[in-house]
Amino acid sequence: EKGGYPHYMLKEIYEQPRVLENTLGGRLSEARAGVELDLRVDPTRFERVHIVACGTAYYAAWVGKYLIEGLARVPVEIDVASEYRYRDPVVDERTLAIAISQSGETIDTLEALREAKRKGAGTLGVINAKGSSITREVDDTLYIHAGPEIGVASTKAYMAMLGAMAMLAVWMGRARGTLPEAEARTFLGELRKMPRLVEQTLEKRQEIAHIAEKYHQAADYLFLGRHIQAPTAYEGALKLKEISYIHAEAYPAGEMKHGPIALIDERLPVVVLTTESPIYEKTLSNIQEVRARGGRVIAVATEGDLEVRRFAQDVIYVPRTHYLLSPMVSVVPLQLLAYETAVLLGRDVDQPRNLAKSVTVE
Ligand code: M6R
Repeated sequence: EKGGYPHYMLKEIYEQPRVLENTLGGRLSEARAGVELDLRVDPTRFERVHIVACGTAYYAAWVGKYLIEGLARVPVEIDVASEYRYRDPVVDERTLAIAISQSGETIDTLEALREAKRKGAGTLGVINAKGSSITREVDDTLYIHAGPEIGVASTKAYMAMLGAMAMLAVWMGRARGTLPEAEARTFLGELRKMPRLVEQTLEKRQEIAHIAEKYHQAADYLFLGRHIQAPTAYEGALKLKEISYIHAEAYPAGEMKHGPIALIDERLPVVVLTTESPIYEKTLSNIQEVRARGGRVIAVATEGDLEVRRFAQDVIYVPRTHYLLSPMVSVVPLQLLAYETAVLLGRDVDQPRNLAKSVTVE
């Protein structure tokens, strides 16, 4: 049932191009330069969006914040669900609360959603599991169609969540008049290409296995990224921690100089997300700061970027895309890095210690 793969996680990583096709399937409308989501929620009624989620789904929420704010110009707050439910959030009828969850059963996410609902928010679930608890309590559900995910470390569900958040952002932006037709067309054109681009990143497996080999004895890893790639850094660190048990920390790259820079020495591998974006140069200077202190840099960069080679020991190239979609191509090498590292260390990839697939207790 693992389809010839040694682990479910690897199978699910390889399923991502097909999964993304399913997520987007039939929902992108060429004719209207928009997205058809078949939701009852009125995207023009809200003044603010709150997104709640846990773990990997929380990083999808974080990516979603940049997408929705960028394309629909609505303020978005994101919260780890276990924090949201106890922080007495400011919510009213003009708030749309979105819960993101693969299982639809995560108790903290469900309770955070209930809290928003009690306070009058409209509610939307971005969910994988059909008919799960969260889908029964929300006004509306946007299914991500990732299919069953068995590996405890979430991979394909994350990819599908990112696809869903990109569609939601376009849907809101078009309805609210903040996303002009031409811009929507360009963005959707890039989104439509994404399954193919994700497929291309899978071809990097050997290269990544090589990097994993080089660094699998490290005691710690640091992951850095800015803007919409900050959550990618966090997701990369989470994957590595979960299945290899190597301590990994993520930081928004610009925060490095406020503390974590003290950790850098020749034993510390630093993964830097440095794909093309309006702030590319800023991240490049972070790489130089790491290098100047002897750190080992593994850069995830856009195909064709030769400049980054001058500063990074290793470069993993990913295909060029719209910078708001860069997390989709960039997370794949980080999933593979975590996977290859865990395998080298002899870890139980599909059933990491102390973890459950869905966390239904507080
Ligand atoms: O089912 P959910 O998406 O609500 O699960 C949320 C987290 O428990 C989950 O993403 C967890 O962090 C994974 N083990 C990450 O790989």
